[in-house]
Amino acid sequence: MKIDVHFTPLGLGAADLAGRGVVVIDVLRATTTIITALANGAKAVIPAATSEEAVRLASNLEKDGVLLAGERRSVKIEGFALGNSPREMVPAAVAGKTIVLATTNGTPALVAAQGGEPVLVGAPVNFKALVERARALLLEPRDLVIICAGREKQFAIEDAYTAGRVIKAAKKGLRKVALNDAARAALALTDELAGWAEALEGSEAAHQLSDVDLDGDVDFAARPDRFGVVPTYADRRIT
Ligand code: MLT
Repeated sequence: MKIDVHFTPLGLGAADLAGRGVVVIDVLRATTTIITALANGAKAVIPAATSEEAVRLASNLEKDGVLLAGERRSVKIEGFALGNSPREMVPAAVAGKTIVLATTNGTPALVAAQGGEPVLVGAPVNFKALVERARALLLEPRDLVIICAGREKQFAIEDAYTAGRVIKAAKKGLRKVALNDAARAALALTDELAGWAEALEGSEAAHQLSDVDLDGDVDFAARPDRFGVVPTYADRRIT
């Protein structure tokens, strides 16, 4: 049994993922937003690597049931119905809809995760349910790859801390779980930081959100176990 962490999806290839369970984490904000949308009744979320790709993917779907969503520098993309705020994903907006989502870091990380078996979408908001799924995969036994979306191709502390918390909880009591160096570093972070709030609030992503008055999203994302759903990504759709 092995758990590998990647602090960004850079350089990930199909061979790194084949036959392994994958968890994708972008706490601020894409995976928090996707989990919230699906928990609130969205039919599916289709991640797009770019806004142009999102428009193209949406044009192939039934107009009525589709919403374009996404951000650039945390701000809603012009012409899109929704941004990338979990607080926008209320039942009245998303129930029954397919959301085509384009974000700077999170959705490209999801697209890069294709090939994992399965690909799970994780964040503090579904932490407990996510850990149960991750542990079940380890017990199969199946190796696990945790992909942190990171920020602008760099390390993001909130994603790494969440990866560390997943590792700590999922491997509890299990012997012989090998960790790569990044997984060991992520695990060490869980002793360094006092909890979700410290990990998220001090992050560069949180500062960027604060600059555009979206501090409420950081508070939303920092409250664990809001939802019991663990979305999976297969055949280009997260459900
Ligand atoms: C992303 O996926 O790049 C992030 O969630 C950025 C954001 O929404 O602020």
